[in-house]
Amino acid sequence: MAEVAVQSERRGEGIVISDDWPGYSLDLFSYPAHYSGDLDCVIIPHGVIMDRTERLARNIMDELGDHDIVVLCVLKGGYQFCADLVDRIKALSRNSNHTIPMRVHFIRLKSYLNDQSTEDLHILGAEDLSFLAGKNVLIVEAIVGTGKTMKTLLKHVEAFGPKMIKVAGLLVKRVPHSSACVPDYVGFEIPNRFVVGYALDYNEYFRDLNHICVISESGKLKYKI
Ligand code: HPA
Ligand code: MG
Repeated sequence: MAEVAVQSERRGEGIVISDDWPGYSLDLFSYPAHYSGDLDCVIIPHGVIMDRTERLARNIMDELGDHDIVVLCVLKGGYQFCADLVDRIKALSRNSNHTIPMRVHFIRLKSYLNDQSTEDLHILGAEDLSFLAGKNVLIVEAIVGTGKTMKTLLKHVEAFGPKMIKVAGLLVKRVPHSSACVPDYVGFEIPNRFVVGYALDYNEYFRDLNHICVISESGKLKYKI
Protein backbone atom coordinates (compact mmCIF):
# COMPACT_ATOMS: atom_id res chain seq x y z
CA MET A 1 0.00 0.00 0.00
CA ALA A 2 1.29 3.43 -0.88
CA GLU A 3 2.44 5.47 2.04
CA VAL A 4 0.54 8.62 2.68
CA ALA A 5 2.99 11.38 1.93
CA VAL A 6 0.93 14.18 3.37
CA GLN A 7 2.71 15.59 6.35
CA SER A 8 0.76 17.71 8.69
CA GLU A 9 2.39 20.68 10.26
CA ARG A 10 4.11 20.10 13.59
CA ARG A 11 2.18 22.11 16.08
CA GLY A 12 3.46 25.32 17.50
CA GLU A 13 6.60 25.45 15.42
CA GLY A 14 5.81 26.97 12.06
CA ILE A 15 8.37 27.23 9.26
CA VAL A 16 11.76 26.67 10.85
CA ILE A 17 14.56 28.95 9.64
CA SER A 18 17.83 27.41 10.76
CA ASP A 19 20.77 29.25 12.31
CA ASP A 20 22.95 28.72 9.25
CA TRP A 21 20.37 30.13 6.80
CA PRO A 22 22.22 33.08 5.18
CA GLY A 23 19.03 34.76 3.96
CA TYR A 24 18.58 36.32 0.53
CA SER A 25 20.83 39.05 -0.81
CA LEU A 26 19.11 42.43 -0.69
CA ASP A 27 20.06 42.89 -4.35
CA LEU A 28 17.43 40.28 -5.27
CA PHE A 29 14.54 42.36 -3.90
CA SER A 30 13.36 45.92 -3.87
CA TYR A 31 13.34 47.86 -0.61
CA PRO A 32 13.41 51.55 0.35
CA ALA A 33 16.67 53.22 -0.75
CA HIS A 34 16.88 55.05 2.59
CA TYR A 35 17.80 51.72 4.21
CA SER A 36 20.67 50.81 1.91
CA GLY A 37 23.63 49.72 4.01
CA ASP A 38 21.43 49.26 7.09
CA LEU A 39 20.49 45.62 6.45
CA ASP A 40 22.42 42.34 6.20
CA CYS A 41 19.91 40.20 4.32
CA VAL A 42 16.26 39.43 3.68
CA ILE A 43 15.39 36.60 6.05
CA ILE A 44 11.69 36.31 5.06
CA PRO A 45 10.42 37.93 1.86
CA HIS A 46 7.05 39.70 2.06
CA GLY A 47 5.35 37.21 -0.25
CA VAL A 48 6.31 34.28 1.96
CA ILE A 49 4.95 36.10 5.02
CA MET A 50 1.65 36.55 3.19
CA ASP A 51 1.48 32.91 2.10
CA ARG A 52 2.19 31.66 5.60
CA THR A 53 -0.35 34.10 7.07
CA GLU A 54 -3.01 32.70 4.74
CA ARG A 55 -2.40 29.22 6.11
CA LEU A 56 -2.45 30.44 9.73
CA ALA A 57 -5.81 32.07 8.98
CA ARG A 58 -7.10 28.70 7.77
CA ASN A 59 -5.81 26.92 10.88
CA ILE A 60 -7.50 29.54 13.05
CA MET A 61 -10.77 29.18 11.10
CA ASP A 62 -10.64 25.39 11.40
CA GLU A 63 -10.27 25.57 15.15
CA LEU A 64 -12.27 28.63 16.06
CA GLY A 65 -14.79 28.94 13.23
CA ASP A 66 -18.31 29.78 14.40
CA HIS A 67 -17.08 31.19 17.71
CA ASP A 68 -17.09 34.92 18.28
CA ILE A 69 -13.58 36.18 18.83
CA VAL A 70 -11.97 39.31 20.10
CA VAL A 71 -8.67 39.90 18.35
CA LEU A 72 -6.19 41.63 20.62
CA CYS A 73 -3.57 43.24 18.42
CA VAL A 74 -0.29 43.92 20.18
CA LEU A 75 1.11 47.23 18.90
CA LYS A 76 3.14 48.56 17.43
CA GLY A 77 4.97 45.62 15.89
CA GLY A 78 1.84 43.53 15.42
CA TYR A 79 -0.19 45.96 13.33
CA GLN A 80 0.81 44.63 9.92
CA PHE A 81 0.54 40.95 10.81
CA CYS A 82 -2.79 41.55 12.55
CA ALA A 83 -4.20 43.51 9.60
CA ASP A 84 -3.13 40.83 7.13
CA LEU A 85 -4.27 37.93 9.33
CA VAL A 86 -7.69 39.50 9.94
CA ASP A 87 -7.93 40.18 6.23
CA ARG A 88 -7.29 36.51 5.38
CA ILE A 89 -9.78 35.32 8.03
CA LYS A 90 -12.36 37.70 6.55
CA ALA A 91 -11.71 36.30 3.07
CA LEU A 92 -12.20 32.74 4.34
CA SER A 93 -15.36 33.79 6.16
CA ARG A 94 -16.78 35.19 2.91
CA ASN A 95 -16.07 32.00 1.02
CA SER A 96 -17.26 29.25 3.34
CA ASN A 97 -20.09 28.28 5.66
CA HIS A 98 -17.78 28.77 8.60
CA THR A 99 -17.63 32.35 9.74
CA ILE A 100 -15.98 34.10 12.62
CA PRO A 101 -17.55 37.29 13.90
CA MET A 102 -14.51 39.32 14.93
CA ARG A 103 -13.91 42.36 17.02
CA VAL A 104 -10.48 43.96 17.02
CA HIS A 105 -8.93 45.71 19.98
CA PHE A 106 -5.49 47.29 20.21
CA ILE A 107 -3.05 47.35 23.08
CA ARG A 108 0.47 48.67 23.10
CA LEU A 109 3.50 47.06 24.71
CA LYS A 110 6.88 48.66 24.94
CA SER A 111 9.99 47.08 26.37
CA TYR A 112 12.83 47.42 23.85
CA LEU A 113 15.53 50.09 23.69
CA ASN A 114 17.98 49.65 20.80
CA ASP A 115 18.14 45.87 20.39
CA GLN A 116 17.83 45.08 24.09
CA SER A 117 14.77 44.11 26.08
CA THR A 118 14.39 46.34 29.14
CA GLU A 119 12.96 45.23 32.47
CA ASP A 120 10.06 47.64 32.51
CA LEU A 121 7.25 46.49 30.32
CA HIS A 122 4.56 49.07 29.66
CA ILE A 123 1.08 47.92 28.72
CA LEU A 124 -1.01 50.75 27.29
CA GLY A 125 -4.67 50.63 26.30
CA ALA A 126 -5.24 47.58 28.49
CA GLU A 127 -6.44 49.31 31.64
CA ASP A 128 -9.98 48.08 31.32
CA LEU A 129 -10.36 44.86 29.39
CA SER A 130 -13.48 43.80 31.29
CA PHE A 131 -15.29 43.38 27.95
CA LEU A 132 -13.14 40.27 27.48
CA ALA A 133 -15.02 38.41 30.24
CA GLY A 134 -16.44 35.17 28.81
CA LYS A 135 -15.03 35.90 25.33
CA ASN A 136 -12.69 33.94 23.07
CA VAL A 137 -9.56 36.01 22.74
CA LEU A 138 -6.96 35.77 20.01
CA ILE A 139 -3.80 37.66 20.92
CA VAL A 140 -1.88 38.65 17.78
CA GLU A 141 1.78 39.40 18.32
CA ALA A 142 4.55 39.93 15.76
CA ILE A 143 7.43 38.38 17.67
CA VAL A 144 7.95 36.24 20.74
CA GLY A 145 11.48 36.23 22.14
CA THR A 146 12.11 35.14 25.70
CA GLY A 147 8.38 34.80 26.22
CA LYS A 148 8.54 37.12 29.23
CA THR A 149 6.43 39.78 27.55
CA MET A 150 3.87 37.23 26.46
CA LYS A 151 3.70 35.72 29.95
CA THR A 152 3.06 39.13 31.51
CA LEU A 153 0.42 39.91 28.92
CA LEU A 154 -1.31 36.55 29.34
CA LYS A 155 -1.51 37.06 33.10
CA HIS A 156 -2.94 40.51 32.55
CA VAL A 157 -5.58 39.27 30.10
CA GLU A 158 -6.47 36.19 32.15
CA ALA A 159 -7.39 38.44 35.07
CA PHE A 160 -10.39 39.70 33.06
CA GLY A 161 -11.88 36.20 32.84
CA PRO A 162 -12.02 35.37 29.11
CA LYS A 163 -13.47 31.98 28.13
CA MET A 164 -10.42 31.07 26.05
CA ILE A 165 -7.14 32.66 25.03
CA LYS A 166 -5.19 31.69 21.92
CA VAL A 167 -2.02 33.35 20.74
CA ALA A 168 -0.88 33.86 17.16
CA GLY A 169 2.78 34.84 16.81
CA LEU A 170 4.28 35.54 13.41
CA LEU A 171 7.83 34.95 14.62
CA VAL A 172 9.24 32.92 17.47
CA LYS A 173 12.91 33.49 18.19
CA ARG A 174 15.15 30.64 19.35
CA VAL A 175 16.62 32.35 22.38
CA PRO A 176 18.41 30.83 25.36
CA HIS A 177 16.38 30.79 28.59
CA SER A 178 13.10 31.22 26.82
CA SER A 179 10.12 30.37 28.99
CA ALA A 180 7.92 27.67 27.54
CA CYS A 181 5.48 30.24 26.25
CA VAL A 182 4.94 29.15 22.67
CA PRO A 183 2.05 30.66 20.69
CA ASP A 184 -0.74 28.34 19.53
CA TYR A 185 -0.24 29.55 15.96
CA VAL A 186 3.35 30.21 14.83
CA GLY A 187 4.37 31.66 11.50
CA PHE A 188 8.12 31.11 11.59
CA GLU A 189 10.74 29.99 14.07
CA ILE A 190 13.82 32.17 13.53
CA PRO A 191 17.44 32.38 14.73
CA ASN A 192 18.31 34.67 17.62
CA ARG A 193 19.13 37.74 15.51
CA PHE A 194 17.58 41.19 15.57
CA VAL A 195 15.10 41.45 12.73
CA VAL A 196 13.21 44.42 11.35
CA GLY A 197 10.55 45.14 8.77
CA TYR A 198 6.90 44.19 8.31
CA ALA A 199 6.16 46.63 11.19
CA LEU A 200 9.01 45.38 13.39
CA ASP A 201 11.27 48.25 14.39
CA TYR A 202 14.64 49.24 15.68
CA ASN A 203 14.03 52.43 17.67
CA GLU A 204 10.95 53.10 15.52
CA TYR A 205 12.80 52.74 12.20
CA PHE A 206 12.25 50.03 9.57
CA ARG A 207 8.49 49.63 10.07
CA ASP A 208 8.21 50.94 6.50
CA LEU A 209 9.99 47.91 5.06
CA ASN A 210 7.94 45.04 3.60
CA HIS A 211 10.34 42.15 4.02
CA ILE A 212 11.63 40.82 7.32
CA CYS A 213 15.35 41.55 7.32
CA VAL A 214 18.35 41.23 9.60
CA ILE A 215 19.66 44.65 10.61
CA SER A 216 23.38 45.29 9.97
CA GLU A 217 25.85 46.52 12.58
CA SER A 218 26.09 49.86 10.77
CA GLY A 219 22.29 50.08 10.74
CA LYS A 220 22.27 49.57 14.51
CA LEU A 221 24.84 52.33 14.95
CA LYS A 222 23.05 54.73 12.63
CA TYR A 223 19.73 54.53 14.50
CA LYS A 224 21.06 54.01 18.02
CA ILE A 225 19.70 56.26 20.79
N1 HPA B 1 13.10 42.91 16.17
C1 HPA B 1 12.22 43.86 16.54
N2 HPA B 1 11.60 43.87 17.72
C2 HPA B 1 11.87 42.85 18.56
C3 HPA B 1 12.76 41.82 18.23
C4 HPA B 1 13.41 41.85 16.96
O1 HPA B 1 14.23 40.97 16.59
N3 HPA B 1 12.79 40.96 19.27
C5 HPA B 1 11.93 41.47 20.19
N4 HPA B 1 11.39 42.60 19.79
MG1 MG C 1 9.95 47.49 18.98
